[in-house]
Amino acid sequence: MTQFHVFLDAHLEIRDAVVEHREDLRFLVQRNNGNVLAHDCPSLLGQGGALGHVGFDRDLVAQRFQLDAASVAAAWSPATRGVLLASPSNPTGTSIAPEEMARIAEVVRGRGGALLVDEIYLGLSFEDRFDHSALALGEDLVVINSFSKTFCMTGWRLGWLVLPPALVAPVERLAQNLYICPPALAQHAALACFTPEALAESEARRAEFRQRRDLVVPGLRAMGLEVPVLPDGAFYAWADCTRHLRAGRETSWAFCFEMMHRAQVALTPGRDFGPAAAERCFRLSFANSRPALELALQRLQQALAS
Ligand SMILES: Cc1ncc(COP(=O)(O)O)c(C=O)c1O
Repeated sequence: MTQFHVFLDAHLEIRDAVVEHREDLRFLVQRNNGNVLAHDCPSLLGQGGALGHVGFDRDLVAQRFQLDAASVAAAWSPATRGVLLASPSNPTGTSIAPEEMARIAEVVRGRGGALLVDEIYLGLSFEDRFDHSALALGEDLVVINSFSKTFCMTGWRLGWLVLPPALVAPVERLAQNLYICPPALAQHAALACFTPEALAESEARRAEFRQRRDLVVPGLRAMGLEVPVLPDGAFYAWADCTRHLRAGRETSWAFCFEMMHRAQVALTPGRDFGPAAAERCFRLSFANSRPALELALQRLQQALAS
């Protein structure tokens, strides 16, 4: 099957393998007494004990809130076992360009490490220049994906890994012992995802998400909630509320709390995504209908004006 500029041999796929991949990773890394580099950019993956962090003194916005090869090379230590990335990312909706991903893969290879790329939002990519799977870069990468986002199956606990051939058997053993198998109901639902109707529906959703982005981002910017980098995928806007902070509302946490009470709009404060810009940024999810998003923007505007 060819998708995202890559052809996959059927034997490389494990459709029934991994359910909660972040827990797998922690388990693997801790047993090896090492660390995996994640980034200090805002990231869902950057939380938790076993992940070492790449310190950033570079301009996060110029890097689209993503890691680059130079940062990986600089942060590599004797304890480092590999690099974990998400592209497109949660919470920023930004991706790593294929050329940069190739450079990162070279750095990781050169140090004998593993590159793990979470592509869970790749099916919701809005721009041709970014919708490339890292799998095109070689058979030595681990690529993580899930039915959750592209096929609206959040909570169904079904995902997959594409692995280097040598890792298939060890990961099968892990999956067998950690999970045995995913729920039968979810497996039947996943098979239905590959019908032409479901794929067409998923494509329509991708277009719809792009329209929602084009509604939400200008809406936030118009009320002084800057979105420093235009998301190129997923369904999140990562916005800066600095201009609306003041005494009694000094952080994005306080800002989100107040908006929840006064505007009845739920936003996610930056601190949920690691230390980078945690106190001044928040995430807005546009996984909701355009009328609901318009209403949310209107209410935010009213709350901020009063
Ligand atoms: C980047 C990223 N990876 C993984 C997940 C988890 O996905 P799943 O529902 O397959 O456990 C999420 C969910 O929000 C995510 O944002």
